[in-house]
Amino acid sequence: MCGIVGYIGSREAYPIIINGLKRLEYRGYDSAGFVLNYPEGLEMVKTKGKVVDLEDKAQGVKLHANIGVGHTRWATHGVPNDINSHPHMSNNGNLVIVHNGIIENYEAIKIKLYSEGYVFHSETDTEVLVNLIEYFKEKENLNLTDAVRYALTEVIGAFAIAVMDSQNTDEIVVGRLGSPLAIGIGEDEFFIASDASPFVEFTKDAIYLEDGEMATIKRGEKVKVRKIVDNKEVHPSIHELQLDLEQIEKGGYEHFMLKEINEQPKSIHDTMRGRLLPDEGIIKMAGIWDHMERFKKAKRIIIVACGTSWHAGLVGEYLIEELARIPVEVEYASEFRYRNPIINKNDIVIAISQSGETADTLAALKLAKEKGAFIYGICNVVGSSIARITDAGSYTHAGPEIGVASTKAFTAQLTILTLIALKLGKHKGNLSNERFMSLCYELSTIPSKVEKALNTNDIVKKISEIYKDAENALYLGRGYNFPTALEGALKLKEISYIHAEGYPAAEMKHGPIALIDENMPVFVIAINKGHYEKVVSNIQEIKSRSGQIIAVVTEGDKQVRDLADHVIEIPECSEEFSPILASIPLQLLSYHVAVMRGCNVDQPRNLAKSVTVE
Ligand code: G6P
Repeated sequence: MCGIVGYIGSREAYPIIINGLKRLEYRGYDSAGFVLNYPEGLEMVKTKGKVVDLEDKAQGVKLHANIGVGHTRWATHGVPNDINSHPHMSNNGNLVIVHNGIIENYEAIKIKLYSEGYVFHSETDTEVLVNLIEYFKEKENLNLTDAVRYALTEVIGAFAIAVMDSQNTDEIVVGRLGSPLAIGIGEDEFFIASDASPFVEFTKDAIYLEDGEMATIKRGEKVKVRKIVDNKEVHPSIHELQLDLEQIEKGGYEHFMLKEINEQPKSIHDTMRGRLLPDEGIIKMAGIWDHMERFKKAKRIIIVACGTSWHAGLVGEYLIEELARIPVEVEYASEFRYRNPIINKNDIVIAISQSGETADTLAALKLAKEKGAFIYGICNVVGSSIARITDAGSYTHAGPEIGVASTKAFTAQLTILTLIALKLGKHKGNLSNERFMSLCYELSTIPSKVEKALNTNDIVKKISEIYKDAENALYLGRGYNFPTALEGALKLKEISYIHAEGYPAAEMKHGPIALIDENMPVFVIAINKGHYEKVVSNIQEIKSRSGQIIAVVTEGDKQVRDLADHVIEIPECSEEFSPILASIPLQLLSYHVAVMRGCNVDQPRNLAKSVTVE
């Protein structure tokens, strides 16, 4: 994780770095730092805490350089404190580095450097790397680019780095393996960042370094990209950014999470736009269509993902098995990659990832590819690592998601999975034309139903007030809404720090029922489709044990209303679409509870949005 940013040009570097770090803070926010490079030397400020703490600490410091780099950290090696914060400086005080990733063999390198007389002040792997660069630079009398390249060939692990030399205020050297790095190309100026958001208002042209590439960024010259392994020059393509400043700002909302929850009618609509033509009964998805024979022949689909994306995968299992009748397995990417899975050539492995950078998901996909599977990506971030290594895929078009707790990316993933399941179902002949047409039509109405589901905000806020001090919560659902229950529980625990568990409603009897007493809020998804009567029985069982029941029901529901302490009504819909609609009030609930408990909604403790370490 961690975010890195850099600037070289004629503007003041400091505001670009600080604003850039604020935009990258979703990647980690336990410490932050920057270094500016003046002809008379380096000015470095770093601190434990957030970027605002860094700004405070920088007051009174000279801040007028036009070259510098910055960092926001999610700790891996060494606790978050001032010393472990980046940037890190080499022993002779000349080189500085910011780093996102993990150097796995740092201990071995450290021992080698000890024997050369090097000393270390922090517990980080990054300080080892900057000293290795210094070692090569001094010992072999190399320029910075070559010294960085020599050092990187010795490194095992993952990195995106930016390195500066205090002796040269015209150059930054960057490199990438496993962690993302974008270079914004302006007129006589360059920007460096973990994603393009820090420089979107300055330029729309960007180079995304590929794994194993490094670049020398020199004032007044073209960016030189080369392969780390053999120094071969690479001619990178320049991408035009599709990102607007507006998309990455709060737009009047108090938090990004609330903004993103409210954006869902639009993000779902954007995800379907140009793909779903309900009147013609057509779903256009080139990624599926171009490989339809493979999908038709697939003996099995394996979905790999982490966190919320894994929950979307579980809904995908219900959708694809039901509508397309292809067996689906859903795996945690971190488990899949380490258990020597059986993968056959006729398997299709689908990765779901908002960021497209999650280390475990990426590694799981690489493994599947090596074993000959066809790999498909469902990503939100355009040009991300997963999107680039897959054989085919579909973007979710939810727009940038900045709140660490995923909301609009989740419902966009469900939308894509529904489109895929419907398309496969139609072309495999599993769905009658009538059912296909009716589901397509209903899918096109989902954005307006989500709009209605958002109207539950007031009642949800009242319910949040009642349960905000709960220590535990249980979320129950069946069928398509078992994953909804898991996702509801995850949302609550990640941003409000209330212990919450999601369970299939019927499994409650095999354990969680022991927890139920008058203090336990139980959130039940009890829509009028699927296993409604069974869920009603489960509600009776909770009621008999004095549990507090908060039920998400279909509008007009009577039976559950009589039993539950509170009901939240969502619009009538087919079961296939209910996870999208039922998730809305659960997202709002976790948001309000977290705000009421005084938690940092957009940057919950210990978490990061883009998990680029395993
Ligand atoms: C982190 C985020 C979650 C996200 C998960 C997977 O844990 O905090 O919100 O669901 O990573 O991320 P991905 O980008 O692969 O969907």
